[in-house]
Amino acid sequence: MKSEKIFIFDTTLRDGEQVPGCKLNTKEKLELALELENLGVDIIEAGFPVSSPGDFHSVEEISKVIRNASVCALSRAVKEDIEVAGRALKKAKHPRIHTGIGTSDLHIKSKFNSNREDIIERAVQAVKMAKNMVEDVEFYAEDAGRTENAYLARVIEAVIHAGATVVNIPDTTGYCLPHQYGEKIAYLVKHVPNIDKAIISCHCHNDLGLATANSIAGIIAGARQIECTLNGLGERAGNTALEEVVMIIRQHADLGFTTGIHTKSLNPMSRMVAETMRMQVQPNKAIVGANAFSHSSGIHQDGFLKDAQTYEIINPEEVGADGSKIVLTARSGRSALAHRFRIIGYDFTRNEIDALYTEFLVLADTKKEVGEEDLHQLAKITVTA
Ligand code: KIV
Ligand code: ZN
Repeated sequence: MKSEKIFIFDTTLRDGEQVPGCKLNTKEKLELALELENLGVDIIEAGFPVSSPGDFHSVEEISKVIRNASVCALSRAVKEDIEVAGRALKKAKHPRIHTGIGTSDLHIKSKFNSNREDIIERAVQAVKMAKNMVEDVEFYAEDAGRTENAYLARVIEAVIHAGATVVNIPDTTGYCLPHQYGEKIAYLVKHVPNIDKAIISCHCHNDLGLATANSIAGIIAGARQIECTLNGLGERAGNTALEEVVMIIRQHADLGFTTGIHTKSLNPMSRMVAETMRMQVQPNKAIVGANAFSHSSGIHQDGFLKDAQTYEIINPEEVGADGSKIVLTARSGRSALAHRFRIIGYDFTRNEIDALYTEFLVLADTKKEVGEEDLHQLAKITVTA
C-alpha cells in the first residue's frame, strides 16, 4: 500500500513563541528555522509580522535563507496585517500567508460583535487580499472546534472559492474529543463541494491533553496537514507535539501515512528548542522526555533485559535519544542490579547478587536513585565482608 504524505506545519516560532518566557530574538529564530528545515518540516510558521517590528524583521530574515520549506506568516483578517505579512515574506522562495477569523458564535458575538454573514464576507475579503500578494494562502477558522459544522462548511466553501489553498480547522480551546474532531473533518470532506481544491489542516490545542489524539483523528478523517510544535509548546497547555504525531504516523504504518521528518533529529531538535526557548521538557514527555526510555521497576527491567521490545515500542536510536537506561531505585530487581554492576566492571555470581541485593534495598529505601558511586561502595563492602 502506498503511503499518503502528511504535511508537517511547524508553528514553534509562532504559537510556541507565544508562551510566556519563550520569546525569541531574530538570531534565535533564524537558527531554529534553519534546524527546522533540516529536520524536514514542510512549512515553517515564522511569526506574526504585524505584531512587532522585531517579529517583522525575523520573518524577513527567515524568508531570505529558507529554500526548501514554505515560510508562513500569520495575520488576522485585517488589511494592514495581510499587507505587512506579504511584505515580510517578499524574499521567501515559497511564501504562505495564514489569515483567518473566529467562526464560533461565541467569537462572532463576543469578539467581533458581528453576525455569521459578515464573518463570511470578512473571511473572503481577507483571502482575496492575501491572494493578491502570494499564491499560497491558508485560511484559519478560529475556534472551529466549537463552530457549528453546517456554518463552518459554508465558511470553508467560501474561502476556497476565494482562493484558499489550505483550510485550517483549529480546535483553538482544545475542547473537542477525538471522535468529535474527526467527525468535524469528515463532515467538511462530505459537505464542502470544492474541498478537493484545498488541503485540510489540523491545529489542535492541548487544554484537555487531547491535541495529539485529535490531530490523528483529523488525518484519519481526511486532513493532510498537521500544525504542531516541538515539545508541544504553545498557548496555555500547548499545541500538538510534532515529535508525537510524527512517531505515531511512523509506528502505525497501517494508517497509510508518511511524513518527511528525519526522526533521528527529534531529540537533538527538542533539546535545542528547550534551551533556546528556556522551557524545560517534562521528564515523562513522550519521545523526548528524559525518562522516555528509562526502566526502573524490577518487572519491566527484567523483561527489557531479556528482550528490549517487551517494554519499548521505539528504538531510542530512531529518535536520536541517548539510549535506554536501567535506573536503580527501591523498586528495581536483581537482574537490573547485576546488569548495572556488569556495566561498571563487576561480574558477580548469583549468590553474590542475592547478598548485594539485600544491602542494595536498604540503601535504595533511603534515596531516590542509586548511582554508580553507590554501587562501587556496595561492591567494596560485600567484597571486604
Ligand atoms: O489556535 C488557533 O486558533 C491559532 C490560529 C491563529 C491558527 O493559533
Ligand atoms: Zn493556536
